[in-house]
Amino acid sequence: MGSTCVVGLQWGDEAKGKIVDLLCDQHEVVVRYQGGANAGHTVVHEGTTYKLSLIPTGILRAGVECVIGNGVVIHPPSLLSEIQRLSSQGVDFHGRLLISDRAHVILPYHMSEERLSEESASAADHIGTTRRGIGPCYRDKVGRVHGVRVADLFHPEEFRERLARIIDFKNRLLQSMLPDFEALDPKLVTEEYLGHAESLRPYVRDTTTWLQKAIAGKKRLLFEGAQGSLLDIDHGSYPYVTSSNSSAAGVGPGSGVPTRFVDRWIGVVKAYTTRVGGGPFPTEQENETGERIRRVGREYGTVTGRPRRCGWFDAVAVRYSAGVSGSTELAVMLLDVLSGIEELNVAVAYELDGRRVESLPASLTDLARCRPIYETVQGWTEDITSVREWADLPAAARDYVTFIARQVGVPASIVSVGPDRRQTIQIPAGIRPSA
Ligand code: GDP
Ligand code: IMO
Ligand code: MG
Repeated sequence: MGSTCVVGLQWGDEAKGKIVDLLCDQHEVVVRYQGGANAGHTVVHEGTTYKLSLIPTGILRAGVECVIGNGVVIHPPSLLSEIQRLSSQGVDFHGRLLISDRAHVILPYHMSEERLSEESASAADHIGTTRRGIGPCYRDKVGRVHGVRVADLFHPEEFRERLARIIDFKNRLLQSMLPDFEALDPKLVTEEYLGHAESLRPYVRDTTTWLQKAIAGKKRLLFEGAQGSLLDIDHGSYPYVTSSNSSAAGVGPGSGVPTRFVDRWIGVVKAYTTRVGGGPFPTEQENETGERIRRVGREYGTVTGRPRRCGWFDAVAVRYSAGVSGSTELAVMLLDVLSGIEELNVAVAYELDGRRVESLPASLTDLARCRPIYETVQGWTEDITSVREWADLPAAARDYVTFIARQVGVPASIVSVGPDRRQTIQIPAGIRPSA
């Protein structure tokens, strides 16, 4: 035992990367189990900023082994350039990165398919994706006929023949639907991907078996969620979600590790809420408050640079996602961003057609009509970025974290007051604010 899962409980960018980095010294292996290069996880340490996309955050810590599990979708050129970028920042990959041979591969036509669905559908139907080919690749995985896995890249004869058939199909489809689509040359794509396979060969493994052996050898695993539980394909605000199980529900299927081996389930939340892309957001503040949070929290997408939508903490949504992700503790991030706001609102329920609703409705139409019912908590004016102990936070800041934890029904164990690894408060078990 001793394994941990870290997931976001909102719509992504909750600062999961910082928490994973922080916990690396208690784990031997970090595992990504879903998503792909749509993720952007930031770690700041002693003035240097590292950005991770497909590669587990553990790569920044010497000696930690990192697994890209079977549930991840891999775009080989993006992965190779990320390896190169991090290597140039001094990160040593030697023998520490393992890529599942069961992971699915993103091919160039996936980007065109995404362009098709994002640009030619009516504006009301756009998801506002990161355009990394994630959805189309998962669609092919589930559809089975056109799915390509990493293992396939190491059988050149069969791969050449099969990819030629797939590209013929995709060319015909895309040419009929996208006027400016230029047919892909199957030979060029095949040879390009066979070249990528050679570059990736040292890392490719049966990670499922490797992870099972790691558990048998008493290694502690740290599962690093990407996106957030409200973007989960099954449990999120569908269809404005990503195409994988980005809640903790994805751990088993995406890694081959039964979840009974995990005993710590950390739900990461911002002290407020952000969202990138389309979809309902009941507590969104399209006003001075939202702008202030965006400015102070530097809320711009790590992957796409898009301004993030900002709003108050939504305890209804987080209560629901903490349930789905089985959170046993909360990490409350970016608390410093709220310093100086006189009164802080937290949505404790919604009002829908005159009724009080305490759980997240499935229907998008209903969710869009929900009006948050707020409770107001007093803010604080002090700069808290250098506080390191729970007891040293202003009383109002402690009350705010306590209010959130009680509303969600999960104890808070970590509070973050700045991007740096050191700007973190660990709350001792005996005094954790809880339900
Ligand atoms: P992730 O995708 O969940 O890993 O989160 P991102 O890296 O996309 O976004 C979180 C941003 O907040 C990053 O720029 C972090 O450096 C930054 N950050 C993390 N924790 C804190 C904090 O406590 N305070 C502030 N001000 N910034 C933080
Ligand atoms: P991290 O791991 C925030 C959002 C996109 C879009 C939707 C679907 O950094 O928290 P996709 O490209 O996945 O098909 O887009 O999901 N999205 C994210 N939002 N953080 C992320 O990752 C995200 N990854 C995808 O903006 O709304
Ligand atoms: Mg991010």
